[in-house]
Amino acid sequence: MQANPDLIAGEFDTLIASMTVEEKVALVSGRHMWKTAEIARLGIPSIIMTDGTYGVRYSIDQIDGDQPGGQDFAAFLSVVNQKANGVQVAFGAINSATCFPNGSSVACSWDVGLMHEMGAALGKECQELGVGLLLGPGINIRRTPLGGRSYEYYSEDPLLTGDLAAGLINGLQGQGVGASLKHFACNNSEIERTSMDSLVEERALREIYLRGFERAIGQSNPWTVMTSYNVLNGVQAAENPWLLGDVLRDDWGYDGLVVSDWHGIKDRPASLNAGNDLDMPESGKRKQDLITAIEAGTVSAETLDLSVRRVLELVRKALINSRKGEKFDRATHHALARRIAGESIVLLKNDGVLPLDPNASLKIAVIGGGAEEPVIQGSGCATTLPTQVDAPLAEIRKLAGVNLDIRAYQGFSEDLSLAADLADEAVEAAKSADIVLIFGTTEVGYDGEGSDRRNLSLAPGQDGLIAEIARLNPRTVVVLSNPDAITMPWLDDVAAVVETFFSGQGMGGGVADVLFGAVNPSGKLTVTFPRKLGDVPGFLSYPGENRRHIYGEGIFVGYRGYDARETEPLFPFGFGLSYTDFTYSDIALDKTELRSGDSVTVSFTLTNTGARAGKEVAQLYVERSGQRHATPPRELKGFAKVALAAGESQRVTITVPVDDLRVYDTSLGCWVLDNGAIALKVGASSRDLALSAEANCVAAEGRYRPILRDTQPIFMLNNPPARRVFRQFLEARLNVSEREAEGMLEHCTNSFIGLFTTFERRFRIQFSEDDIERVLADIEQAVAEDARVQA
Ligand code: BGC
Repeated sequence: MQANPDLIAGEFDTLIASMTVEEKVALVSGRHMWKTAEIARLGIPSIIMTDGTYGVRYSIDQIDGDQPGGQDFAAFLSVVNQKANGVQVAFGAINSATCFPNGSSVACSWDVGLMHEMGAALGKECQELGVGLLLGPGINIRRTPLGGRSYEYYSEDPLLTGDLAAGLINGLQGQGVGASLKHFACNNSEIERTSMDSLVEERALREIYLRGFERAIGQSNPWTVMTSYNVLNGVQAAENPWLLGDVLRDDWGYDGLVVSDWHGIKDRPASLNAGNDLDMPESGKRKQDLITAIEAGTVSAETLDLSVRRVLELVRKALINSRKGEKFDRATHHALARRIAGESIVLLKNDGVLPLDPNASLKIAVIGGGAEEPVIQGSGCATTLPTQVDAPLAEIRKLAGVNLDIRAYQGFSEDLSLAADLADEAVEAAKSADIVLIFGTTEVGYDGEGSDRRNLSLAPGQDGLIAEIARLNPRTVVVLSNPDAITMPWLDDVAAVVETFFSGQGMGGGVADVLFGAVNPSGKLTVTFPRKLGDVPGFLSYPGENRRHIYGEGIFVGYRGYDARETEPLFPFGFGLSYTDFTYSDIALDKTELRSGDSVTVSFTLTNTGARAGKEVAQLYVERSGQRHATPPRELKGFAKVALAAGESQRVTITVPVDDLRVYDTSLGCWVLDNGAIALKVGASSRDLALSAEANCVAAEGRYRPILRDTQPIFMLNNPPARRVFRQFLEARLNVSEREAEGMLEHCTNSFIGLFTTFERRFRIQFSEDDIERVLADIEQAVAEDARVQA
């Protein structure tokens, strides 16, 4: 079909004016599972969208075969509900594509440039397949390690999440393919995921759960944002005017398209009114509901046209950027997947056994089916059919010298009739080996979308066997594939732990590179590993009941909660080892008086004091205390990944906008910078901060809490402009001197009763309603004036 020139030129007015209501409704309702509607009469073609977050899943029957509803719903459920390693069974005919490291893996690179490279590669694969919109990245906060989709998501920290997502989106969209930043917002668990109400107080929303979206949108302007399945504070996310209107559009100025999650809309007219432009996938019922609402006037013509315009703009961008037919190079993308895996692996423990010397003369027992058939991804809609898979065992053999005697053993099996024999065989082999490499994995069936994990253990039988082998052979190295944090009951007895999370089709090569030191590990954790499940800050309120999930820990998510309660983690946020050593020295700030609108640059010297080249993720945190708002002991405010040759030093700078130090004041309904001293700390992890510099935040706005009629007197007395107004009021009203009025104020410092009642009872003054309202208005004005002068 020849696309309408007005569409290509972005001249939508005449196009919209010539559409029928049915055509408009079709356009905001999608076509089948993966397309926007085509309106041939007007030269508006469909565009194709598909998952996912770390690879392109192109379903041939559904897209090329244009499979209609019913059939496609069954296929959709089989994909979403399929369990790991069932890829071939679940997908039917699907195009292969590079399976890159999953979100929880690649995030450990802390490397925005690498995210950009991965995004660009995904974009090229989409171009080959004719996909105009990729349904990713997914960036919900990993509030609990049990969350089924944790493997797709990046971190428990919003700053890191937002910056990494922006890198990926910029890379992807740089190739002319749109991103869909998802799932907006608070889809942090799979339990009853379309009906559970995430009950989250606004400060936690603004500072934690929405902040990553806000940062990513600010830095990369994704073509689309996808609403989440859950209810948020009583209103379905896809129908939530506060979330989609007040926050996304008004506060953040987002002007792209909002698309629903698949069948995530329950009330289509409400969703359109709230600003969810595109309803996916196509549903005859929801289309009819919308037509009826338009006829009844409960959805206005303007609202419909605005969403139509946004769909047209999406279609236009996809069309003008399309390079269908372009080929991506499989080998190059596989090599990239391997490199990213290597950069993202986190070395959690090493008593010196690693790196292995390829030229040594040693007997190595490799245990676990994961060595030959690695678990490289989670399950669900993101699952990708890889173009090839590196098996760790084969890659280890490729890098090993001739004197390494490497033998493999199955070790574990979920088939209980085999388990005991396999374990015995592995134990025997481990006894006589110089080094044992054990590949551990989490439970199949609880590794992805549709269900949360049941515990933090490895798959049944694995923790026990690892513990037994480690007791017999102290040179045991554990290599892990898991979606999110696990507990490690055997940690003290093993020599090394290599954490890969789910690191995609290049995992085997990446692991071999790290084991032999061809790659010096530089990944760092983007979540805290707890010692036990009960230590997770949200533990007590998870997973909710009776359709209500109260996020009781508020802003104290992840390390913020562990730090506040002084809970010792198994591994802290930001932790990861290297084969070399780094030292931090000579911190300096470019300014120490910090004002809103400015930025502060922190510089320090990073030195590689070891004998190998390596990369370090240097992290900058702010610590505050005694300020007006309660804050976590420390929060990440910046980071830098720095490559240094052995012995090399570099001066590193990290610049932080002072506005990033603000907190969200729910009583004032805005972000405020708290006055007072802060420390900017730099180091290797959230619990290892070698450098510290002091600064002072100077703020005028938001310095005081609002004074209401039942505010305790002390808050008015500690607020100079409010105190002045109130004192002048007493002087005039009671005909007393300034000194007498001050004396009266001082008498009321210890009252816990509201302001006006206190003065009424203490001094037997009658306040009229007019008096009260006037004084409160005068106070508000005086406080605002004071802020203006101070600024
Ligand atoms: C998932 C989305 C995905 C969509 C389409 C939903 O079940 O939550 O992340 O993009 O399906 O497959």
